[in-house]
Amino acid sequence: MAPKFFSLIVVAFSILLASSSIKASFAGWQAISNLTDPKVVEIGKFAVKEHNKRVNALLRFESIVKGETQIVNGINYRLIISATDALATNAESNYRVVVWDKPWKKERRLISFEKLLG
Ligand SMILES: *[C@@H]1O[C@H](CO)[C@@H](O)[C@H](O)[C@H]1NC(C)=O
Repeated sequence: MAPKFFSLIVVAFSILLASSSIKASFAGWQAISNLTDPKVVEIGKFAVKEHNKRVNALLRFESIVKGETQIVNGINYRLIISATDALATNAESNYRVVVWDKPWKKERRLISFEKLLG
């Protein structure tokens, strides 16, 4: 009886631990302090290139306005970037992009790309 009770407690405790670490990783966004970091700029340029390919757009990357990273089975980059649109008289706008990068697997994916209004 006693050992069974013990293992039940262990199971309950590990479930608690697992769920709290999942919460922690969701909340773990870190502001990027250096917006001219070549790695971050590379991610921004990748997002624009990928978006252009997907929807036949002609955006040109200008700069990183703001950004955050999150470690989740790789690195998530959530960036606000500035880009000009060659199909709209080079109007400059800000875009919110999310890129998932897993450098050791050479995997990189554009998760979302949306224009910010205003
Ligand atoms: C940001 O990164 C760039 C490129 O690595 C470097 O030249 C620059 O000095 C850095 N700026 C700051 C404030 O650390």
